[in-house]
Amino acid sequence: MDIMDRLNSSPRLMLVSDLDHTMVDHHDPENSSLLRFNALWEAYYRQDSLLVFSTGRSPTLYKQLRKEKPMITPDIAIMSVGTEITYGRSMVPDDGWVQFLNQKWDKNIVIEETSKFPELKPQAETEQRPHKVSFYVQKDKAKSVTQALSKVLEERGLNVKIIYSGGIDLDVLPNGAGKGQALAYLLKKFETEGKPPLNTLACGDSGNDAELFSIPGVYGVMVSNAQEELLQWHSENAKDNPKILHASERCASGIIEAIGHFKLGQNLSPRDVSDSRQENLSPYLEIVNFALLLEKWRRAEVENSELFIAGIKATVFPSAIIIHPSGSAHNAREYLNTFRKVYGDKKGKQYRIWVDDVVATQLAPGIWLVKFDKWELCGEERKACASTSIMSSRDSDWFNLVHVHQTWLEDSAKGEWFL
Ligand code: GLC
Ligand code: MG
Repeated sequence: MDIMDRLNSSPRLMLVSDLDHTMVDHHDPENSSLLRFNALWEAYYRQDSLLVFSTGRSPTLYKQLRKEKPMITPDIAIMSVGTEITYGRSMVPDDGWVQFLNQKWDKNIVIEETSKFPELKPQAETEQRPHKVSFYVQKDKAKSVTQALSKVLEERGLNVKIIYSGGIDLDVLPNGAGKGQALAYLLKKFETEGKPPLNTLACGDSGNDAELFSIPGVYGVMVSNAQEELLQWHSENAKDNPKILHASERCASGIIEAIGHFKLGQNLSPRDVSDSRQENLSPYLEIVNFALLLEKWRRAEVENSELFIAGIKATVFPSAIIIHPSGSAHNAREYLNTFRKVYGDKKGKQYRIWVDDVVATQLAPGIWLVKFDKWELCGEERKACASTSIMSSRDSDWFNLVHVHQTWLEDSAKGEWFL
């Protein structure tokens, strides 16, 4: 696993989160809690922690969600209700997990038996996966169908798990599958490699997340907007477990609340800090704060002043070069003069910037190679570029920019660009 190479010791925090209605709030068109989380994660956790997304969605619908919402890249993606595990940006599948799930599983028998239940309405073809067969079923029928179905499948020699979520979805999986089992499998893998996470936080809102909260030693947060079936599971099975919190905030804000509640690390997002021009202690925080500053400048949320521009120029080496994604090279300080032109040009618009997958490597004392992707969202339009910079923290409290090289990311719209 390449993730293991990135971390040279145990992850400080392994955060395992469901997506729909947990990390992603579908009732928040501004995506404010998700953006708060992204900034917090990239600034304080990306360097030594692990982000795991665990979703009911198939890879197809997961990729679609990533295009719709400002999401950062997880280290591990668990999809199709714990039946598919992939690693890294390139989503390399875990073949060992597939092998394991083949035990006592025969998808054809599941299809044959479920077709005898008129109450079960098959979901879209994309959501039918090698180890997951999914339906819609009305709330009042869910219990009786589940009982009858598990009986017939057992009689046919299958060992399955049936999960009801969101008051509508019914998934049939191998018994060894599910979000909880997938997490247990990963934890065991890290243990074997001698790098068990120092803390693990599971985050969810619906029925298929319940198992995440039963893994020993794991902290859990049910976001404030959790579904009835999850809250019911909790009151029947885990009411006295102090490691499980029902947050008072929705979605990603509930996750941040839980990080604070369980004292798992920094829980103040850079987006919640009004003056970010304090001493920046890490290149990660520096990158996140710089992107936020640029966003505020273009939204006219900071004062338009020469002092501001001078302040930014001061953090750039006089000889620093910026290579623009179009390929043209500029002296960085001169290039910063173009800042004046874009003050407030996104005022009143739905304009956001976020950085993804920041990786900082120290090349020599105080000299850093910093790579990240920078995303810009304006209404429906999205642009992204990959950025590679050299930063220096020698002789100052700041990380000064020595060199920046940007390239457009594939499938990103191209256009004018400011840093
Ligand atoms: C996602 C999947 C769906 C599944 C549901 C609950 O919505 O797309 O197939 O039934 O999660 O697990
Ligand atoms: Mg959910």
